Amino acid sequence: MEKNIESHLKETRVFKPARSFAAKALVGSLQQYRRMHRDSIRQPEKFWAREARELTWQKPWKKVLEWKPPFAKWFVGGKLNLAENCLDRHLQGPRRNKAAIIWEGEPGEKRVLTYQQLHRDVCRFANVLKRNKIRKGDRVIIYLPTIPEAAIAMLACARIGAVHSVVFGGFSADSIRDRIADCGATAVITADGGYRRGAIVPLKHNVDEALKGETTIKRVIVFRRAGNDVHIEQGRDVWWHRELEYVDAHCPPVALASEHPLYILYTSGSTGKPKGILHTTGGYLVGIHSTSKYVFDLREDDIYWCTADVGWVTGHSYVVYGPLAAGATTLMYEGAPNWPEPDRFWRIIEEYAVSILYTAPTAIRAFIRWGDQWVKKHDLSSLRLLGTVGEPINPEAWMWYRKTIGGGRCPIVDTWWQTETGAIMITPLPGAIPTKPGSATLPFFGVDAAVVDAKGKEVPPNVGGKLIIRRPWPAMLRSIYGDKPRYKKQYWSEFKNNYFTGDGARRDKDGYFWIVGRIDDVLNVAGHRLGTSEIESALVSHPQVAEAAAVGRPDELKGQGVVVFVTLKSGVKPTPSLKEELRRHVGQHIGAIAKPDEVRFAEALPKTRSGKIMRRLLKEIASGKTVTGDTTTLEDFSVLAKLGSAEE
Ligand code: WT7
Repeated sequence: MEKNIESHLKETRVFKPARSFAAKALVGSLQQYRRMHRDSIRQPEKFWAREARELTWQKPWKKVLEWKPPFAKWFVGGKLNLAENCLDRHLQGPRRNKAAIIWEGEPGEKRVLTYQQLHRDVCRFANVLKRNKIRKGDRVIIYLPTIPEAAIAMLACARIGAVHSVVFGGFSADSIRDRIADCGATAVITADGGYRRGAIVPLKHNVDEALKGETTIKRVIVFRRAGNDVHIEQGRDVWWHRELEYVDAHCPPVALASEHPLYILYTSGSTGKPKGILHTTGGYLVGIHSTSKYVFDLREDDIYWCTADVGWVTGHSYVVYGPLAAGATTLMYEGAPNWPEPDRFWRIIEEYAVSILYTAPTAIRAFIRWGDQWVKKHDLSSLRLLGTVGEPINPEAWMWYRKTIGGGRCPIVDTWWQTETGAIMITPLPGAIPTKPGSATLPFFGVDAAVVDAKGKEVPPNVGGKLIIRRPWPAMLRSIYGDKPRYKKQYWSEFKNNYFTGDGARRDKDGYFWIVGRIDDVLNVAGHRLGTSEIESALVSHPQVAEAAAVGRPDELKGQGVVVFVTLKSGVKPTPSLKEELRRHVGQHIGAIAKPDEVRFAEALPKTRSGKIMRRLLKEIASGKTVTGDTTTLEDFSVLAKLGSAEE
């Protein structure tokens, strides 16, 4: 029989929302959260209908939910337009002249688009799409840097009912080609180039490479961003700015069925070929609007900054659609956090008086590594709320974030969700739910999450198991594009009619969720199942460690042995005695069972662009194999080369 995942990390610190924060918050007490959550679970359709009524529908829905497991339809019969909800809806009152997007390019350019300006730009570009024969239902690849035109292109597609698939600007020609082929896209929207760490990424060139040979693409629209030389293929490629000369700004939002597809976003997961996660219109909008409002507790005067690239789901839900649907001011930054120097983020926060910062644990660990002096140079007193997403955050990184960035006064929302869930699922509400470093705390409204054993039975407190969601939610994926059997198998077959997240977790006695990482990554050492995140957290709590990744390798005696890859803080020397010390350190924090068999120092860890450590690759390296399998989501290939010779 399969054993439960053991959990050894004990974190006892609790931080209650400050009274001053709670007083102004949308949800201001734990009791209020509990009451609302209970009601939302008893009568989910009532809860979601109320949320949906805050939005603009061209035609009201007849039925909130139609659930034929594993296929859900939300707001059946309703018609709406997402771009209308993000733009037109705000033009009637004072939001008309409010900043919708504040943007800073990596080289330092600044742009502000008010809601009215953004509306006009989206309408004009939507007319460009129509002019280029892009129609409702057509698939369009967007391959752009994080510039306002990325948001404009997404919203323009949504306005006419074209289905976008944003491909992260760091991906190669091969990744673009695969995605085009998988979804049968007919157009690409790209730029000549984008900036990353001072260099120009040749986006248009990559598109040209991807389109060599047979392709379904008929049109490429090119935005001039970096001014680098590009090839223009006559009859196929057109310049964005030239096209604008032919269109006006009148473009009514098309009434789309609630289940009309909005976008496809490819996610690699840890194994296998990338999956095209399909999201649709009505439910998705309701999900991201509701979570943006409650989780970030958005106020009219906030400057909200989510640092994600538009190429991943956080960029979709919480850079573009969520904040704009809520009428907020969303800040976009194009480049790297350490360009030209490691204080770029803090410089931006000071300059624009950012009040909400939403970033990833991997970035936070990099900041810790670069040193507090970069933070101390800047006034961060405008911040009132911090968020993280992407992977479990180590308690020590959480504490640093709270103290050094938040000045001890900002609540932290550690938000658990996935590309598949579309919207935040497990999270603190900042004015209501006391936080514990390293825990995503409690489920959002309407989310029925549980930790179960292999048979699907809920496990007792503090016993590890698999994280499942027991009922559909509005922003959930509707399928894997073109592959319903895989959708069924991947998410709904392990536990009948329950969504399996692929994550391991435990709940503590207060019902708080502690995510221990992907089940595929769980180690089995001498019959003990250990979450990689716990070993990593123990390592990161050592003062000289910046980041760590734990993986298993086959071990005749124990089944699996533990190998850890460790990067050290600036200036720390990698010595054999430090290795020994780190082994002891893990032993002390977790127990002898988790003591690494081998400690390897590395300059950097292989990561996806969303900042997730690619343990699958490390696993292969740790067991002395050469790296095989899909590496298209790897951010920086040189890291992999260096790891092969990771020993000092
Ligand atoms: C996986 C989803 C959701 C947008 C970012 C990544 C891990 C995400 C947390 C968190 C612990 C987290 C999970 C999840 N994850 N947020 N707050 N605490 N783990 O989206 O690439 O689809 O990855 O990221 O393992 O399943 P994604």
